[in-house]
Amino acid sequence: MRGRDPDYGDVQGLVRFGYRRMKEASYALLRVRNVEAARAWLASTPVASAAATDPRPPTAVHVAFTAAGLEALGVPAAVRAGFSPEFLAGMTEESRSRRLGDVGPNAPSRWAWGGPGFVPHVLVMLFAEPGRLGGLVRGLTGAAWTDAFEALEWLESGDLRGAEPFGFADGISQPQLDWKQERDVGAGRVEYGNVVALGEFLLGYRNEYGRYTDRPLLDAGAATASLPAAEDAPEKKDLGRNGTYLVLRQLRQDVRGLWQFLLAQSCGDFAKAERLGAALLGRRRSGEPLTLDRPEAAPGAASEPDPERLNRFTYEDDPAGARCPIGAHIRRANPRNANYVGRPSKLGRLLADLGFGRRGLSDDLTSSVRFHRILRRGRSYGPWLDPEGAAEPAPPGDPERGLHFACLNANISRQFEFVQNAWMASTKFSGLTGESDPIVGNREPIPGCPVTDGFTLPQEGGLPRRLSGMPRFVTVRGGAYFFLPGLRALRFIAGAS
Ligand code: HEM
Repeated sequence: MRGRDPDYGDVQGLVRFGYRRMKEASYALLRVRNVEAARAWLASTPVASAAATDPRPPTAVHVAFTAAGLEALGVPAAVRAGFSPEFLAGMTEESRSRRLGDVGPNAPSRWAWGGPGFVPHVLVMLFAEPGRLGGLVRGLTGAAWTDAFEALEWLESGDLRGAEPFGFADGISQPQLDWKQERDVGAGRVEYGNVVALGEFLLGYRNEYGRYTDRPLLDAGAATASLPAAEDAPEKKDLGRNGTYLVLRQLRQDVRGLWQFLLAQSCGDFAKAERLGAALLGRRRSGEPLTLDRPEAAPGAASEPDPERLNRFTYEDDPAGARCPIGAHIRRANPRNANYVGRPSKLGRLLADLGFGRRGLSDDLTSSVRFHRILRRGRSYGPWLDPEGAAEPAPPGDPERGLHFACLNANISRQFEFVQNAWMASTKFSGLTGESDPIVGNREPIPGCPVTDGFTLPQEGGLPRRLSGMPRFVTVRGGAYFFLPGLRALRFIAGAS
């Protein structure tokens, strides 16, 4: 199978494209009102594939389902049982909420959607070039739509100039999918690399372990004839192939809270406040990573950061976090090392596998990052607010701002949940204690760790500075796990009976 193009025509385009030119977006969270009508709408709606076309289409439609949605559409229980346990249990299962940090003000009982009684069945994502979204929505939401669905929520995205609402350039670091499956996944990896096995992001292909992630494999027969065969079990039909899981979370951002905190810590000096903000994120507002050690880089959000240049780094030459704090958001989200960093010989790798020669506390938690990558497809919402404007008190009726965080992964527990739990929410990370992610941490006390609101800023050649009493800047407002099927699987689901 190596060296061959995958079946782009069967993969939803969102896996391959970020749709940067389609600056307008709107997501409908739907419940099925009438099963037959819903199936008819799903069967007839043109969903964008990952095949490249010239000219590029000006709009794109994508469709995904929760486990409750597959049930509502009549997908048999025996078929649904083949999906992953975390997808079937959903994002709000109690112990999962604890692990994801969805407690206190983040608890699902307080969510606008996705909490008890408000779990969507279907997610329809609409993307459009400027000026085209209204027409796309009108064209899709006619009588057939109204018969089929009731809308739980419409999530409207705003275009925030390539920066997320706190004002930092976003969408820079992404794993590169090994579409042609050219990388030898079985061989391990000595250094950090950005190319990741296709099976980490699409079901039905080999993942970073050289294995196939579990997904529903069905008996061949008339009903399943249109589905692709399973690569690892050719006598079976693969409902997962070319599909993936989509994690969607609505994250409210307290933009004023962040900038007022940064300014208070910097005695009102705006340049200092920007530097402190960059330390929390790990990148300057322009997207420039702190590890590159280019203090002359001008602050201010860049219009078009060059992702290639801004991603060529690891933290190998900054082990103590003097340039980029160890707890900075991007360093927690992707610690960028590999299984066998600095151990190129076979003996070195064997010793590492046996647990010898660990260089520090960080090794355990941050090794093997290639098993924990996510493909982010989030979009901001709410009106833009400059950091300068954010220093002012909120006027009455100040609108909500935030991120419709979306990421794709073939294994929710090993990818999204691991990143969110072990790296972001954990109060013990890489030798740090009493702090969690400075941006998304919920600051709630946890058993055995009553203090979670610190942040350590190592200083080159000096004692680390420790911030305490960090406010919560991000609150979860909704969320759910979805299955984003391949297009043949989508038609199978639309015809389920
Ligand atoms: C409102 C909440 C969040 C904000 C404001 C935010 C902001 C950012 C920014 C500015 C970057 C750097 C630019 C880039 O590489 O795209 C970034 C990177 C990243 N974020 Fe977040 N983020 C948020 C939530 C999350 C969550 C919940 C996760 C995962 C559970 C996450 C995972 C990542 C990852 C994996 C990277 C790339 C790290 C790297 O490879 O260097 N983020 N985020």
